[in-house]
Amino acid sequence: MKGVILHGGHGTRLRPLTHTGPKQLIPVANKPISQYVLEDLRNIGVKDVAFIIGGIMPEKVKDYYGDGSKFGVKVKYINQDKPAGIAHAVGLTQDFVGNSPFVVYLGDNLLKGGISDIAKEFNQKKYDAMVLLCKVEHPQQFGVAEFDKEGKLHRLVEKPKEPPSNFALTGIYFFTPMIFKMIKKLKPSWRGELEITEAIQLLLEEGYDVGYRIVEGWWKDTGTIDDILEANILVLDEMEAKQEAAVEGVCIQGRVSIGKNAQVKKGAMIRGPTVIGENAIIESEVYIGPYTSVGNGTDVKKGEIENSIIMENCIIDINTKIIDSVIGANSEIVTNQKGPKGHKLIVGENSKIVL
Ligand code: TTP
Repeated sequence: MKGVILHGGHGTRLRPLTHTGPKQLIPVANKPISQYVLEDLRNIGVKDVAFIIGGIMPEKVKDYYGDGSKFGVKVKYINQDKPAGIAHAVGLTQDFVGNSPFVVYLGDNLLKGGISDIAKEFNQKKYDAMVLLCKVEHPQQFGVAEFDKEGKLHRLVEKPKEPPSNFALTGIYFFTPMIFKMIKKLKPSWRGELEITEAIQLLLEEGYDVGYRIVEGWWKDTGTIDDILEANILVLDEMEAKQEAAVEGVCIQGRVSIGKNAQVKKGAMIRGPTVIGENAIIESEVYIGPYTSVGNGTDVKKGEIENSIIMENCIIDINTKIIDSVIGANSEIVTNQKGPKGHKLIVGENSKIVL
């Protein structure tokens, strides 16, 4: 089985973070989202992985994953010159896939427990395709499944006003090369994209056997900032605590991971689940609260942080508390010590600040 990770897209809902890199590289619990995806693929024995890369700094993806050897797989990169849809991206992989069955995994999707049970069923039952469905509260925003009386998958509808069920299509698909025939028949949808939902619908209409499975744990599509923070909670909730640096005199409550060469100074308080990256510095008056990821090399000199992602090499030195925030790498947030009272802001385009 081969693997395809979709690492392109517009990423408009995640600006400004996606002005400086693709959304799939945003870290959750200090690891890029697409690395969880790659590890899920590797864990079912996939050795050949193609990354579809798009227009948002694709060189950052290549720098991070290289030839894949660090991650135990062989990686190939395929350029998608414009984000013309998931089916368009899958269509670009035909030469890479050849005659092999393959998994397509959206690089911004996270799934508890991996995909090994689904892969086993797909292989055993010899389906032509298999999708993973998840029960959701608002199916209107997703591709939605309709079942026949026997419970077989009957139809898939993209973002229906009146959803036929609460079961949404997740971003994990198992295919055989049959899907390429269907993709070739597609026309752009109302939003100008080739829709994978329509390609799978064509398989169903032509009598191919499309299996499905319902997600048992959680599934998270990390398309918005709120989704990213929720993913951080879900992943940290399952993280095993690993302390690789000395923490004498530090008040630690709950599960806290501390990376190599981090310095957490006496008098600091860290409440888990929380992860502190390698070479990070947490000074003595600092409080880091639950559900926080502090990136490698970040220096928290003063202040309180809760339910937030602070990426690499930031400086935080504040008299206040940061909550529910995502702070990009190399940012500096400090309290104004001199001059007139007020907030001094140097903020990139499409930022959001709540004071
Ligand atoms: P989406 O999140 O649906 O789309 P987007 O990335 O364009 O984001 P936004 O709506 O915020 O502008 O994409 C789902 C996944 O598929 C995501 O990992 C990006 C990837 N993708 C591609 O690789 N190529 C594409 O042409 C599209 C549309 C998405």
